[in-house]
Amino acid sequence: ANVYLVEKERTLAIVKPDGVSGNYTSSIRKIILDSGFNIQREVTLHLDEDSVRRFYAEHSTKSFYPRLVKYMTSGPVLIMILQKVNAIADWRALIGPTDAQKARMTHPDSIRAMCGEDIEQNCVHGSDSVESAAREISFFFTEPSPEGTTPEHDEL
Ligand code: PPS
Repeated sequence: ANVYLVEKERTLAIVKPDGVSGNYTSSIRKIILDSGFNIQREVTLHLDEDSVRRFYAEHSTKSFYPRLVKYMTSGPVLIMILQKVNAIADWRALIGPTDAQKARMTHPDSIRAMCGEDIEQNCVHGSDSVESAAREISFFFTEPSPEGTTPEHDEL
């Protein structure tokens, strides 16, 4: 018989401030585990403005950037490394379209349909490519900053 080794992939998931304050973390965690992801690492952080600006640097020229920074610093977020075969695309499929209002119409079973408000307050984040997953994972889990990502959160 042929035996194939399928590499597990890692992606970065964030439950945004509205998701955490709305008590959606346990249902989101259940969806994650029921969908076959392993939560490799996780940390809850209240991000400061500088961290959010750097994390979303590619959007710095967009009109929504100031509101995005305000939103993402408005309360604690839950940051997770999810691991699974095809983790990046599968997590994006689970969270649904960026706009939570559209998600409720077209992807009613998605996470954003469940807990998001609109295109700006959309409850969760997922890396959109292999490159951004690598960047985003190292942003939170190996860089010395942002504050709070201390070794005791980083059990390997
Ligand atoms: S884009 O415009 O194609 O680059 O959009 P995308 O790659 O999906 O990522 C956009 C991220 O910014 C957040 N955001 C908004 N997007 C579009 N329009 C508005 N008004 C807006 N406000 C905030 C959006 O939620 C994406 O964040 P993440 O955390 O990556 O999901």
